[in-house]
Amino acid sequence: MLRTHTRGELTAANEGERVTLCGFVWKSRDLGGLLFIDLRDRYGFTQVVFDPVVDSVLTKDAAALHGEDVVEVTGVVRLRPGDMRREDIKTGEIEVRADCLRVLSRAARLPFLVAEEETAKEPLRLKYRYLDLRRPPMQWNLEIRHVTINAIRQYLNSRGFLEIETPILMKSTPEGARDYLVPSRVHKGNFYALPQSPQMYKQLLMVAGLDRYYQIARCFRDEDPRVDRQPEFTQLDLEMSFAEEDDVFEVTEGAFAGVFRETLGYELPLPFPRMTYHEAMNRYGRDKPDVRFGFELTDVTEVCGESESAVFKKTVEEGGRVFAVVAPGGLSRKEADELEKLAKDEGAAGLAFFKVEDGGKLAGALAKFFTPALSERLLTVTGAERGDTILAAAGPFPATAEVMGSVRLALAEMTGVQKASGWHFLWVTDFPLFEEDPETGGPVPSHHPFTSPKPEDIEYLETDPLRVMSRAYDIVLNGVELGSGSVRIFEPELQRRVLRAVGVTDEEIEERFGFFLEALSYGVPPHAGIAPGIDRLVWLICGVIGIRDVIAFPKTTEATSPLDGSPSPVSPTQLRELGLSLDIDE
Ligand code: AMO
Repeated sequence: MLRTHTRGELTAANEGERVTLCGFVWKSRDLGGLLFIDLRDRYGFTQVVFDPVVDSVLTKDAAALHGEDVVEVTGVVRLRPGDMRREDIKTGEIEVRADCLRVLSRAARLPFLVAEEETAKEPLRLKYRYLDLRRPPMQWNLEIRHVTINAIRQYLNSRGFLEIETPILMKSTPEGARDYLVPSRVHKGNFYALPQSPQMYKQLLMVAGLDRYYQIARCFRDEDPRVDRQPEFTQLDLEMSFAEEDDVFEVTEGAFAGVFRETLGYELPLPFPRMTYHEAMNRYGRDKPDVRFGFELTDVTEVCGESESAVFKKTVEEGGRVFAVVAPGGLSRKEADELEKLAKDEGAAGLAFFKVEDGGKLAGALAKFFTPALSERLLTVTGAERGDTILAAAGPFPATAEVMGSVRLALAEMTGVQKASGWHFLWVTDFPLFEEDPETGGPVPSHHPFTSPKPEDIEYLETDPLRVMSRAYDIVLNGVELGSGSVRIFEPELQRRVLRAVGVTDEEIEERFGFFLEALSYGVPPHAGIAPGIDRLVWLICGVIGIRDVIAFPKTTEATSPLDGSPSPVSPTQLRELGLSLDIDE
């Protein structure tokens, strides 16, 4: 190595040693003739001193250095004078008196300052990601990511799991997003799909008898990026044979416990609490509830159904529900308007407001439809008090609960509610197998079509699919869905019935899933698994704004990479080789 030590290493114990350090020029200061340069590498900073009285030429050379030049410095470690010692950095007790300087590489004028804090807008940071990644907080994020993955591997290896890679070029697995397609040159007109997840392969590994599989798997989904979503991302994908819900929960909890121990030195309390999907929707209006604060929804269907309000009565007659949430201390006109707009944008017919006045009297457009006795019941059910405002929306379940879930989150934001600190993991269980496709009204898988229905509901697959419950589960942390999984279908006929229930024709079943169904016919260990998102997990641990900050080379919100300019056109020759021609409608 060109160096004898790294930047984070030297302490008072090294006093008097002659050392060679390499790194980036970070900050320089000229104090009373002495020139101080902080050298930076991944491990920290070291202060280097150049003294013009001792060597004026060397000090002049050092003064000509620019930020981010890469240098090699040799000198002797000495203690800093008492008033210059720093306790906040590891090397704060010492400095290196330089007697030799070699410039290894000069830095051109930088497009932005490489500083602790962000100095540039994101597109520029992404274009020069290699400079952005020089910033210590970004390096820390990637280090936490490394420690996370390492902790996962250590734990799963110790539990008998095998790490197995699955193909990147494959046949499409449905996970609800669009596929990224790769045209085949050899078989013109045919395409591979990039995996939305290795779902079918991991199940095939169970058919193969590998018993316990995991993979730090790259997944690709052509969907709009968001703060917690990237077109390519990483999952901890795992699958276990002869396993049921509790087995997957136990292994996942163990892996997460290892991660929090290794990254934050924090011992997670185990086991994680559990909540059914229905409880989560009824209390929080979300299947990934943020349980760190109150403002819980209340079901006011019965009370509102007895009022004289035509809207409420009709909803209840049609089998809909009415959900309420209480704004403590009431709302300003502006806040009320904002929440009403939000509710409407999310599909509610409207949002009703009941202000609680003196003596428990209700005020608001619909208050006149509530008798004093009914008003009192509304107050009892919601727990609202004088000065509060009750907000209510009516309509079908679960859509209305979801609207009120959004109102709850917005209300929390408006009031700046104090969220409980710490890590609030939660298993959400007992999901419906299907949900209603808002466009067609038909059933679509709530998770994916390989999820096992609850045995007692199998008989309703054809007659009443929306009432069929599943053996799917989600793991949620602080209101973020970290991962999904399920006990799988392992009988080919049941798998066919579920695919048919979501409208896949027998022909399509054979064409798209024939190989998989055949595999299920050769003796299959019952199996279950899960796939927590690594990016989301590291994102929450690092406490950064979005998952992009924990991915070395992420895509923008437009799914582009400013760094290399992808996606980009390809040459006519490449297209010809693939048998493709473009027909782009401008
Ligand atoms: P699912 O589709 O729910 O399940 O994905 C599991 C987890 O992967 C993460 N994730 C994402 N992270 C970043 N960007 C994205 N675009 C993105 N999409 C998903 C989330 C999510 O909870 N095969 C099943 C799992 C199984 O059943 O075992 C699956 O992929 O953290």
